[in-house]
Amino acid sequence: MALPADAGTGECKTMPGKILIVDDESAARLALATLLRREGFEVTEVRDGATALAHCASFCPDLVLLDILMPGMDGFEVCRRIKATPQTRLTPVVLITGLSATEDRIQGINAGADDFLSKPIDFNELLARTRSLLRLKQFTDELENAEVVLFSLAESIEARDPYTRGHCERLAQMSACLGEIQGLPEEEIKALRWAGIVHDIGKVAVPDAILLKPGPLSAEETEIMRKHPVVGERICAPLRTFRLVLPIIRHHHERHDGSGYPDGLRGPQIPVTAAILQLADVYDALTADRPYRTASPTEIALKIMHEECGRGWWNRELLDAFTRMIGNGQPGAPPKKMGKAAR
Ligand SMILES: [Fe+2]
Repeated sequence: MALPADAGTGECKTMPGKILIVDDESAARLALATLLRREGFEVTEVRDGATALAHCASFCPDLVLLDILMPGMDGFEVCRRIKATPQTRLTPVVLITGLSATEDRIQGINAGADDFLSKPIDFNELLARTRSLLRLKQFTDELENAEVVLFSLAESIEARDPYTRGHCERLAQMSACLGEIQGLPEEEIKALRWAGIVHDIGKVAVPDAILLKPGPLSAEETEIMRKHPVVGERICAPLRTFRLVLPIIRHHHERHDGSGYPDGLRGPQIPVTAAILQLADVYDALTADRPYRTASPTEIALKIMHEECGRGWWNRELLDAFTRMIGNGQPGAPPKKMGKAAR
């Protein structure tokens, strides 16, 4: 989305923002639509909440102007559903209220509304608020674009090694599933999903000669390889939305007994999300073919992990939960081949 001309900065003049107007009164709806179209916005108008939600999915508005009083689903409920849907939760919603409706405003804030307009609508106020919220939406979109770039980079790194195909996606699924079983908050489960994709993004700094080497690495090569968690954390650090992903990236090669890297953390010092991702990473590596050995069956892989747990590498409680999860049906497709993804 780009802003209409004279949107405050005077810089973005290429494309107007998209606005969805939701009001059961056709006269009010049409008046608003006409005024906003005249200002260069792309406007769609609908008369009820259910149609509004459908248009949020298809029209992808940058802003929703939403009347509260409508037959059927009212504006509060529409707002709540927009904010509860991952794809639209960042879309600004302006509720149109009665003149002195304090109750409405409180209820609107609880429903997640971003702003309010009172009837009768002052057009200058409408324009000012619209442009302000569209500017905010543009920043959000740019941030999301940055996330997309990072995910693409992670995918291209995975594609460098034919033995790791599908590894990240399986990791994301297994880690999120174990996170849910462990009762982690939703935001940490989301961080696990993202970390499954980007955890090895720091391998961008590892040369192919090391990344794809079929045999054991030399001490110097190992040192280069072991920098990838720190490099990955640095790449993703500027994104505030990656706040909970960063510790997973940095610590996904730590070990329970302190023998891992990069910080040699021990036991409870290791973030539980990082410990979860690591179990999935190790399991996926063991159950996949490598250039120098074939995949282990599930039971053998789990047996090896329990032996490693006996050596102090993994959190036993977490590994037991992981073992039960795999026993109940492993999430994700079966792995194919694997390179130096996990160990
Ligand atoms: Fe890694």
